[in-house]
Amino acid sequence: MLEQVNVLMNKALEELGQAPLDLKWLQDFDVRVLGKKGDLTLLLRETGKLPDAERPSFGAKVNAAKLAVLEKLNELRAKAEAKALAGRLESERIDVTLPGTALPLGSIHPINRIQQEICDVFERLGFNVESGPELEDEFHNFDALNVPTDHPARDGMDSYYLGGKVLRTHTSSVQVRVMKKRKPPIRMIAPGRVYRRDAIDATHGAQFHQVEGLAVDTFGQVRFSDLKGTLESFTRLMFGRRLGVRLRPSHFGFTEPSVEVDVQCFQCQGKGCGLCKKSGFIEIGGAGMVHPNVFAAVGYEPEAYSGFAFGMGVERIAMLRWGINDIRLFTENDPRFLSQF
Ligand code: DAH
Repeated sequence: MLEQVNVLMNKALEELGQAPLDLKWLQDFDVRVLGKKGDLTLLLRETGKLPDAERPSFGAKVNAAKLAVLEKLNELRAKAEAKALAGRLESERIDVTLPGTALPLGSIHPINRIQQEICDVFERLGFNVESGPELEDEFHNFDALNVPTDHPARDGMDSYYLGGKVLRTHTSSVQVRVMKKRKPPIRMIAPGRVYRRDAIDATHGAQFHQVEGLAVDTFGQVRFSDLKGTLESFTRLMFGRRLGVRLRPSHFGFTEPSVEVDVQCFQCQGKGCGLCKKSGFIEIGGAGMVHPNVFAAVGYEPEAYSGFAFGMGVERIAMLRWGINDIRLFTENDPRFLSQF
């Protein structure tokens, strides 16, 4: 039996001598040779068959054999682990000297940027910024603004109706909300999105942005000249000194008198060109003195107050500022366009 121990040990060591440096293989070997049912372990069970005197030395011999095999096995395991690690390091190698992939930076959308600039200018002039819902009721969008019940703008052909409400056709609805909630003096602006059933072309979209303005104080404190001065200060701060403002008589239900606001064409500076259709001016919005019926609708005594209001198109102003000739560019999300701002 002692001979048997040597045979098994030598066989095991020999096998290890040709073992591959593979952790899985070594683990299998461990189970097969040194494990509970391993050859050397099973040999220990035979101890009982020996005479008493021989038992201790036989046990010691088997254990020494197991230890010898284990030592060799661990040596190989360490080598196999080092080899696996080296392989992993090699496959995950990173060359930190290679140039990186540049991540393109986003930019603020030109409409947001102009809207923010318009707000900044009016805040400098003492106006505060208000907002209202895009899905409005007819009272705030039309009735309170003295828009007649049979006005074509109310028609489903011109406005979008949704569950008994209307997608606001202008930001003028915010005037009504602010006046209903506060007493004069008021000086506010309201930027936001508006919706119209317009045929889409180079200068019209079904959805665009406006900035509304309103100033109200006791009667006689806010005059038409204040409106003109405010619009002139605005264009000077927004476009610089070189572009003049022109007011043309117009009509809106919510103002009397009403005007259309034109700014000199940025391209020809008033001389007349293709962009301004030879007129020298480009319309940016409407304005006027608040109609007494509007004051009445929000619960103000019409004789006690006067005010001016205006509404301008943000896309129009952005087009003026940067010489953009097609309003559709703002919604196409072409990075070649957007990255220029
Ligand atoms: N709401 C008008 C529009 O969308 C623009 C406008 C005109 C607003 C005159 C006003 C105003 O506040 O006084 O065409």
